[in-house]
Amino acid sequence: MKSFAEVINRRHTGSTKWDGHALMGVPPEAIPLWVADMDFPVMPEVTAAINRRTAHEIYGYSLPADSYFESIQGWMLRRHHWATEKEWILTVPGVVPAINIAVNAFTNPGDAVLIQPPVYPPFANSVLGNGRKLIKNSLIPEGGGYVIDLQDFETRIKANAVKLFILCSPHNPVGRVWTPEELKGMADICRKYDVLIVDDEIHHDLVFPGVRHYPLPALDAAYWEHTIVCTAPSKSFNIAGLQTSNVFIADARLREQYFILARCWGVSKVNAIGLVACEAAYTYGDEWMDAVMAYVAANADYVREFIAENIPAIKVTKSQGLFLLWLDCNALGLSPRELESFFLKKASLWLNQGYTFGDEGSGYVRLNIACPRSLLVKAMEQLKAAVDGSLRKD
Ligand SMILES: Cc1ncc(COP(=O)(O)O)c(C=O)c1O
Repeated sequence: MKSFAEVINRRHTGSTKWDGHALMGVPPEAIPLWVADMDFPVMPEVTAAINRRTAHEIYGYSLPADSYFESIQGWMLRRHHWATEKEWILTVPGVVPAINIAVNAFTNPGDAVLIQPPVYPPFANSVLGNGRKLIKNSLIPEGGGYVIDLQDFETRIKANAVKLFILCSPHNPVGRVWTPEELKGMADICRKYDVLIVDDEIHHDLVFPGVRHYPLPALDAAYWEHTIVCTAPSKSFNIAGLQTSNVFIADARLREQYFILARCWGVSKVNAIGLVACEAAYTYGDEWMDAVMAYVAANADYVREFIAENIPAIKVTKSQGLFLLWLDCNALGLSPRELESFFLKKASLWLNQGYTFGDEGSGYVRLNIACPRSLLVKAMEQLKAAVDGSLRKD
């Protein structure tokens, strides 16, 4: 296993994160700490599995083998104490397509769909872009982190006859790993009002040491007929470019409804290389996963301490997981556009801007910390210099 501290040049590899500057109108020197993939190499077993497969030199249409499903089920059981059935698992090239299939399969144009902003921007796109009505149950900043307003959740579901809820568990960008009580609170209300939950668990492996994630359907079999769970090895093992994800639907009627649309749109199959990479990751990935999250957690501690000591105007949101930190920059007194320009031009840092996660994200930025520590150190020094410089000018 290579050291996570090793700096690997990703430029000129077609990387969205590292080669997208010109396309996105970003200064070429800005350090990219935005899109959610890691700057770490994949584990050797994944590379070996890909090499074995590519050596065959024929890459025709491919089916998942039994061992593919077994590797996924084994991982869910070992890592998340979640016993699943092979029949529940459907392949899909990505979690965003899976969410869009669900919105179209389970709701009609004009139906209300609920999300919890600030949240991953494609959630709102999947509602509005498909002509559904967007209902927001905004998360509440509290005690340096975020909590759910359960009363507001129920009121909005009832008042708008919400049909579907897109849950982000754990939550991107705020980094909350929901407790069983929080999950049950939401799921029980959804059962009461017959709301289907699309449970996006793409970040579920990315929890800090000692933290446990609970897959929603593992909490109570009563939730199965109201939940579809979207998972992927992509974030966990840094293989997002291989576009292989897995959706779990325990209820046969829902599964059929979902699959009819997925097949109709031609998004029920995944690519040959993704299949073997996914299987290798879930079969051999335990040690690597623990190691990568220990490194990411240490990076998070480093950023928290550096900012607390050197840039008190910025507050780092408390989180229990993800390789993303949510920074509250409101005290800098800049408008969303000014904040964006400040980060790109003054600090020379390319981060995700909070306003893209909904109005609730205004004044925040999202920092990707899945990179060698040395890059973060450089980024923090640049940020400190930029904040000191702009404060001096005032
Ligand atoms: C919550 C969440 N869902 C889905 C995705 C992306 O899914 P995919 O690339 O599999 O479509 C991301 C990527 O950042 C994400 O954060």
